[in-house]
Amino acid sequence: MSRLPKIPWYEITSESTYLNRRQLMVGAGAALSLAALAACGMEAPAAPAAAPSEAAAADASPTATPDTREPMASATADELGDPLNSFEQITNYNNFYEFSTDKEAVARVAKDFPISPWTVTVGGLVDNPGTYDMDDIRGMFDIEERIYRLRCVEAWSMVIPWQGFPLGKLLAAAGPKSEAKYVRFKTLHDPVLMPGQTSTWYSWPYTEGLRMDEAMNDLAILSTGLYGKDLLPQSGAPLRLVVPWKYGFKSIKSIVSIDLVAEQPSSLWMDAAPNEYGFYANVNPDVNHPRWSQASERRIGESGRRETLPFNGYAEQVAGLYDGMDLSKNF
Ligand code: MTE
Repeated sequence: MSRLPKIPWYEITSESTYLNRRQLMVGAGAALSLAALAACGMEAPAAPAAAPSEAAAADASPTATPDTREPMASATADELGDPLNSFEQITNYNNFYEFSTDKEAVARVAKDFPISPWTVTVGGLVDNPGTYDMDDIRGMFDIEERIYRLRCVEAWSMVIPWQGFPLGKLLAAAGPKSEAKYVRFKTLHDPVLMPGQTSTWYSWPYTEGLRMDEAMNDLAILSTGLYGKDLLPQSGAPLRLVVPWKYGFKSIKSIVSIDLVAEQPSSLWMDAAPNEYGFYANVNPDVNHPRWSQASERRIGESGRRETLPFNGYAEQVAGLYDGMDLSKNF
């Protein structure tokens, strides 16, 4: 928390450059085809996931209002670094098993999920436990923009302009006790509102965890929005975790509780397939998933594959957290 992360300029965008950046992305987005959008190589990891069909992919219908402003003629994708994915891509290709295992169906199934009022409980080993209304949480911290790569364990990836605030700020305000070693997050558990939770394959609610030092790293944020708009249900509204150096499944959506605990918590995916999904889940091209390679990834909207980077390209900021650890064993 004490030092500013040294990350490339294109990954953290100031408020003032956001609009210009956005205009450029609109131009880039126009060139993307729906066929490319559907060209994700890997299907959902553990046992019972339904694979998105070609037909469903062809039917994917973006819902956002098209932005008709002209792109800036002088800027190129190279100057941007990694081009952003479009709002349409980010909000129409989602993993959110509480609603559907079909990535293209999540937005439709989650459309009416009620995200207000919403409370988040912060508790466990803290001096100041509390239950906060989402509106209060939004006002408690400065909302920053963070442009991060998201690398799914299924070997697809996107670049997303999030709005949010460092998780560490919320944890510091809660006053961690010295015995607090881990943070445990939970998603809402309501099988009526989240029909996927009627599936008996998984140990609902979706649970995830971080070690305290990981949680306090400035790159770990709680997101409230993307592309300057409040999160939509399919993206994890109203509050989700974003941990860009870890596989996407660590970035738990629609959080209702955050507890500081002494023992390493389990997670939905660790419970579902412990040989495939570990606690750390740091993006690591050298450690393959038991059923596929993690050496490369398909960036949604691009043809071909990109090399996967250690820690998803954030090694400079976070590799030190794992000094002395064998990351092939602590996967
Ligand atoms: N959080 C919950 N509660 N339920 C989920 O199914 N899926 C995870 C993660 N967070 C998931 C979740 C996975 S596997 C990924 S890759 C990311 O959300 C996807 O985030 P996105 O849909 O915003 O791209």
